Amino acid sequence: MRKIISFNENWTFYQKGEGRQVTLPHTWNAVDGQDGGNDYYRGECQYVCSMEKPKLENGEKVFLEINGAAMSVVVSLNGKELARHQGGYATFRVELTEGLQEQNELCISVDNSDNDTIYPQKADFTFYGGIYRDVNLIIVPASHFDLSYCGAPGIKVTPVVEPGTNSARITVETWQQGDGKVTMAIGEMSREVMPDNGHAVAEFVIENAHLWDGVNDPYLYTATATLESGDEISARFGCRYFEIHAQKGFLLNGQSYPLRGVSRHQDCKGVGNALTMEHHKRDMEIVREIGANTLRLAHYQHAQEFYDLCDENGMIVWAEIPYITMHMKNGRENTLKQMEELIAQCYNHPSIVVWGLSNEITAASAVNEDLLENHRLLNDLCHRMDATRLTTMANVFMLETDSPILEIPDVNSYNLYFGWYLGELSQNDEFFDEFHEKYPDRPIGFSEYGADANPKFQSAKPEKGDYTESYQALYHEHMLEMIEKRPWLWATHVWNLFDFAADGRDEGGKHGENQKGLVTFDRQTRKDAFYLYKAAWNKEPMLHICGSRYIERAEDVTEVKVYSNAGEVSLYVDGKLLESICAHRVFCFQVPIVGEHTIEAKAADMSETVTIRRVEQENPEYIFVKKQDVVNWFDQEEFHPECFSVSDTLADLRANPEAGAIVNQMMEKGAAARGDVADAVKDNPALQRMMGRMTLISLLKQAGDIEEESIKQLNRVLQKIRKE
Ligand code: GCU
Repeated sequence: MRKIISFNENWTFYQKGEGRQVTLPHTWNAVDGQDGGNDYYRGECQYVCSMEKPKLENGEKVFLEINGAAMSVVVSLNGKELARHQGGYATFRVELTEGLQEQNELCISVDNSDNDTIYPQKADFTFYGGIYRDVNLIIVPASHFDLSYCGAPGIKVTPVVEPGTNSARITVETWQQGDGKVTMAIGEMSREVMPDNGHAVAEFVIENAHLWDGVNDPYLYTATATLESGDEISARFGCRYFEIHAQKGFLLNGQSYPLRGVSRHQDCKGVGNALTMEHHKRDMEIVREIGANTLRLAHYQHAQEFYDLCDENGMIVWAEIPYITMHMKNGRENTLKQMEELIAQCYNHPSIVVWGLSNEITAASAVNEDLLENHRLLNDLCHRMDATRLTTMANVFMLETDSPILEIPDVNSYNLYFGWYLGELSQNDEFFDEFHEKYPDRPIGFSEYGADANPKFQSAKPEKGDYTESYQALYHEHMLEMIEKRPWLWATHVWNLFDFAADGRDEGGKHGENQKGLVTFDRQTRKDAFYLYKAAWNKEPMLHICGSRYIERAEDVTEVKVYSNAGEVSLYVDGKLLESICAHRVFCFQVPIVGEHTIEAKAADMSETVTIRRVEQENPEYIFVKKQDVVNWFDQEEFHPECFSVSDTLADLRANPEAGAIVNQMMEKGAAARGDVADAVKDNPALQRMMGRMTLISLLKQAGDIEEESIKQLNRVLQKIRKE
């Protein structure tokens, strides 16, 4: 039998030469990576531990297993380098056996410095550094299942269900070091197989398989494999089949099963990305509470524990590598390696249905041949390694829909932020209807959409960009309705279920956080919009009064909104029935207020109460005062509001001949740098309309690779041009 020994204790962590005791999982950016200082520590640190040589019998081998260390690692034993790993999200293992002495010093050097070869390098999330997942010692007999290929489990299970029947053919494969027969088993069925060059294959048939049927019935089987040496491994698997159809959307086991869910980053307030099983379980409980049936695990490979929870809870998963935002010509090998590890390590999870090739990779890069080839190679790798799943990619809203890159993955998907960063909510509807009409044979998904909300901020007149909980709720009411009218959207994922660390952000009254979450970063507060989706997706009866944090209201008549999956809701003011309304999910009551009131919503045997009070002046604490991009961004420089600046929209700037000439010249220059994509953008009226509504500063930030000094210079020039 193999021995798996936890190796998280007694590490000395060295940063800039100073050492302190830490226990793994650990990240050195748990604090500075979440406070938005933009100066979180990125560099090389060391984890050192002393270890005695384990007692080994009959040629046993010792492996070190690191389940996640970002971003690149060098493992040394007694001063001798043993292995390197580049990529912050996959498991990797190193054999220690030959280098072990009676007493040993193990050093794991970890580096999250920026570079031009390891993804991610430019993205809207903190690149935490550290050994942030569990580390184990694995001791195996001389003859053991393989531990060296891509951190893979050494067992691969491929269940194929005959559509329309429940007959499943299961292929079990193992790889081993050393020879000797393999005994494989599924339940009562068992096979003895002689390996061919270390690779053993056996077929099993389950006539009336118990299907893995998503959240309704996530039934799991277990395949085991045993060697004569006693080494044994197992893998759980699910018998299911799925289809992604351009018109019918997603089907699971032959039935329509629209994927409606959320995204998740792997971090939490206070601990960074050094999550424990408790953190994972709590996140999954919240996913089940909202009633999602799918998760986009962005933007990288998540912990095996979490994919396991997805298998157990019937969650359909979009898994992906962090090939994101900006294509790096020296990064191709790393994308292929990260994808090979993702598939090798996650192949057995029934929850995973698609492999995501990239995310918004054209946001800061032209669609050139190098980028296209990188995607073709990734796409081919996925198909070579896994004939049972499809490939996809999340595209940025600016990517024109006739881009050649969209022809590479099996199914398409877009991230859209109309109604938040730019444009109007209705543009989301228009975009998908146009795409669906133009490409009736292409499945299209909605991989990201969201609006930031700080629960502190409230408004009677919510509007785009105000960071209020009220606007986020309105935004999602529109999006949910838009999605429900388009069952052909094969998957939709709210960005994001949880607020998460984005070191470069300092907005919405918080430092270093992206607040598009339906739940706050610490998991303590479910924002009102969370309950809208819960009303839509969770079949359990529920009722929620919105605006519990909007206590002081400077209105004579205020709207009290209730989300519920009941058909009728009654509202009581100070114990007296105001009104009963029949509606679908969103119930809006107009309530006259004069003083302090207890408002109670009731439906069936459910009830929820909030307290609100009439005030004369709007509570200033409810209002997010947006720091002027320019003033905030350019420190001491004076700001002349009567003149143009980079904070003006492209349309306003272009409406002025002098300012327009300057902006067009800059865009032409940018176009030359970006090659043909800019021409396509220039000739694309829909995109021009969209971009016209974007402020110049947000376009420049989106472009990414423009020096701050040159933006300041452009701003100074624009500030000399008076607005009419
Ligand atoms: C993009 C990107 C996300 C980012 C999001 C946002 O779509 O894929 O990583 O967090 O936009 O701006 O909130």
